[in-house]
Amino acid sequence: MSTPRDLSLFSWHHAHDVAFSSMNSGQLMQTTVADRAIGLLRRDDSIFAFTARCPHAGAPMCDGWLDAKGHIVCPLHKYRFDPATGRNTTGEGYKLFTYPVQVRGDEVWVGIMG
Ligand code: FES
Repeated sequence: MSTPRDLSLFSWHHAHDVAFSSMNSGQLMQTTVADRAIGLLRRDDSIFAFTARCPHAGAPMCDGWLDAKGHIVCPLHKYRFDPATGRNTTGEGYKLFTYPVQVRGDEVWVGIMG
């Protein structure tokens, strides 16, 4: 279970190169927000944001794919992560950092702490 976040603690940044309607369900894509490389995943009407580099050895997470449970599979060593929580579902003990993300109209906004 993820910990609820106080969204007022974040500053919100528009991902200018992404329109929600342009993403297909199941699509991973990388963007840059506030000088950070952020991965995005659309799953049906939901969207998730996370650090674009794998916490294990830095592989580009958006070159990965989704497993049958909708978890992101890293392309390098195949560790899997829940995009909602960052939990490493294959049990290696890593955590993918996640960001709050909102869809406003067709725009994608990512919350950065601080
Ligand atoms: S770099 Fe992602 S699992 Fe090793």
